[in-house]
Amino acid sequence: MRLVFLGPPGAGKGTQASKLAQELGVPHISTGDILRRAIALATPTGVEAKEFVDRGELVPFVIVLRLVQDRLGEDDAANGWILDGFPRNLEQALAFEDLLVRMRSAIDRVLYFDASETVVVSRLTARRTCKGCGAVYHLQFSPPKVAGVCDKCGGTDLEQRSDDQEEAIRNRLRVYASETEPLVGHYRKTGLLREIRAELPPQEVTREVAARLSKG
Ligand code: AP5
Repeated sequence: MRLVFLGPPGAGKGTQASKLAQELGVPHISTGDILRRAIALATPTGVEAKEFVDRGELVPFVIVLRLVQDRLGEDDAANGWILDGFPRNLEQALAFEDLLVRMRSAIDRVLYFDASETVVVSRLTARRTCKGCGAVYHLQFSPPKVAGVCDKCGGTDLEQRSDDQEEAIRNRLRVYASETEPLVGHYRKTGLLREIRAELPPQEVTREVAARLSKG
C-alpha cells in the first residue's frame, strides 16, 4: 500500500505512521526524520537544511525531492510506503506526481489528520523524542513507563525537538496554513483523500485509520 499522511504539525501523523508501517511491513518515510538525521550527522544536506528546520520553514524543494527520490528507490520501498510530511505544498505534490509516473507507481490513499491549533500546540510543547532510537512520547498523553527512560531502548536522553520551541511552532503553523493546507483540496479532488479525526485518543485514531483504509 502507498500512503501519504497529511496534516498539521503535531496532529499525530508520525505516531500513527510508525505503527501502521510495522503492521503493513512497509517503510515509514518521514522527510522530517530524514532531515533531522542528516542534521545530527552534519552531512552537507544536514548543514544546508538546519537553519530552515530550526526556524520551522520549508527546506528548499530540490533538497527534499532528491531525498524522497533516493529513499523510494531503496529495496524496502518496492512494495509500498507511508510518506509522512511529504508532499508539503503544491510544487512538491506536482513534482511527486511526475516522479511516480516515471516510477510506474501511484498513491493509493491520502490520510488527512485533522486537528485544531489548540490541540496540536498542546501536543508539540510536551513532546519528547528518544535521542537513541527516535521513539516519541508526550509527557501527559503517552509518557514513558519510567519517567525519563525510553520504553523501547532504555535510553535516558528524552529530548525536546529544536523546532518544538514556541516561536518555531507558531511559524510551522503559519507555513502549514499557507503552503500545506491547500493540498487537502488538491487531493480531495482526486478522490484519494480520507479524513481522520486526529483529536481522538491515540487508540481511537488507530482504529479510524484502519477503517478508512479498509473501506476502499
Ligand atoms: P516534520 O518532522 O514532518 O514535522 P511536522 O509536520 O511539523 O509534524 P510533527 O512531526 O511535528 O507532528 P506529527 O503529526 O508527526 O505528530 P506526532 O505523531 O509526533 O517536519 C519538521 C521540519 O522538517 C519542517 O518544519 C521542515 O523544516 C522540514 N521538512 C520536513 N518535510 C519537509 C518537506 N516535505 N519539504 C520541506 N521541508 C520539510 O505527535 C505529536 C505529539 O502528540 C507526540 O508527543 C505524541 O506522543 C502526541 N500524540 C500523538 N497522537 C496523539 C493523540 N491521538 N492524542 C494525544 N496525543 C497524541
